[in-house]
Amino acid sequence: VADAELNPSNGSVAPSERAAMARARELAVTALGVTSPNPPVGAVILAADGSIAGEGATRPAGQEHAEVVALTAAGPRARGGTAIVTLEPCNHHGRTGPCVDALLAAGIARVVYATHDPTAVAAGGADRLRGAGVDVVGGFGALDAAAGALHWWLGAVGRGRPYVVWKTATTLDGRIAAADGTSRWITSAAARADAQRLRATIDAIVVGSGTVLADDPALTARRSDGTLGERQPLRVVLDRSGRVPGTARALDATAPSVRLTDRGPAEALRRLWERGIRSVLLEGGGTVAGAFLAAGCVDEVLAYLAPKLLGAGTPALAGIGVQTIADAIALDLIDVDRVGADVRLRAAVRPAAGT
Ligand SMILES: NC(=O)c1ccc[n+]([C@@H]2O[C@H](COP(=O)([O-])OP(=O)(O)OC[C@H]3O[C@@H](n4cnc5c(N)ncnc54)[C@H](OP(=O)(O)O)[C@@H]3O)[C@@H](O)[C@H]2O)c1
Repeated sequence: VADAELNPSNGSVAPSERAAMARARELAVTALGVTSPNPPVGAVILAADGSIAGEGATRPAGQEHAEVVALTAAGPRARGGTAIVTLEPCNHHGRTGPCVDALLAAGIARVVYATHDPTAVAAGGADRLRGAGVDVVGGFGALDAAAGALHWWLGAVGRGRPYVVWKTATTLDGRIAAADGTSRWITSAAARADAQRLRATIDAIVVGSGTVLADDPALTARRSDGTLGERQPLRVVLDRSGRVPGTARALDATAPSVRLTDRGPAEALRRLWERGIRSVLLEGGGTVAGAFLAAGCVDEVLAYLAPKLLGAGTPALAGIGVQTIADAIALDLIDVDRVGADVRLRAAVRPAAGT
């Protein structure tokens, strides 16, 4: 990830362009959860006088990319203007035409983009634009863009499998259920609502058969009033031995779902990748989370920690084979927030050497 702010040779960026890039990052967030396998991108078109002429975010896969949405909104005001985009404009014919063609046809004079496109098929947009005489600044605000809406998508294409966030809700001593099996509710309503909002932005939720048999969760994304949200992730039940009945709520008709019988996490993720899934929320339980961690298939941990202690009961994680402290799976803290009565902690799993 290059960042033009750290690299002045990449050209200077006007205050109006800086503000437009911040707006483009906000627009990209609105596209989360609907664009895969395409990246969620935001774009702003500035007219030649520097005023905002159009805005856009990536539409669902097969429909317009962010640049085309923003160009359409800008109409003739795009001519001689500047396109501000969170990702390098694509240069390939997928289900839609290349964004580079649309930018050139609209008469855009300058393009400022944040993140370079790492995919072999779509890359090369900046070079083609430069070749056509467009003034191009690449890598401006790249670090912010990569930490925002593009984070999961970039993580996925870099790994060649969906980006996996393991979500867990535990007591301070790491329990997800009490000794008698009771587990509702460990965390506060505010923490649960926060997790619900996340469900609406991710491509798929994965659970093991144990969680489905114990709790029969619906695994849908619901609004704070309990109604079903507009965007629903694919619900994935890992059920190697076919123990989950067809009547399970996670497999009902309220949202898309699939039961996978693959032996291991890597196989299950490969199957999801083939379906266009780029981000996964692993919602347990401890057995499946342990299997994914042991296989190097967890990229981020999202832990809701309730200020409660149980002293006994089901641990959040099982079977990762760690016997000594030197073998602990090391995480890098991303951020810590208070959510209602609880603490939300995000941490990245360090990639194993050589991956
Ligand atoms: N507080 C929380 O955040 C939270 C979240 C989720 C669950 N829970 C609690 O966790 C408990 C259930 O825990 P659990 O560990 O039994 O559930 P689990 O991890 O959801 O399911 C375990 C089962 O998944 C199946 N499975 C499929 N693919 C697998 C793979 N690659 N590796 C390992 N297993 C695989 C296995 O059964 P087959 O071989 O038969 O397929 C295994 O027995 C419940 O009490 C639930 O309330 C709490």
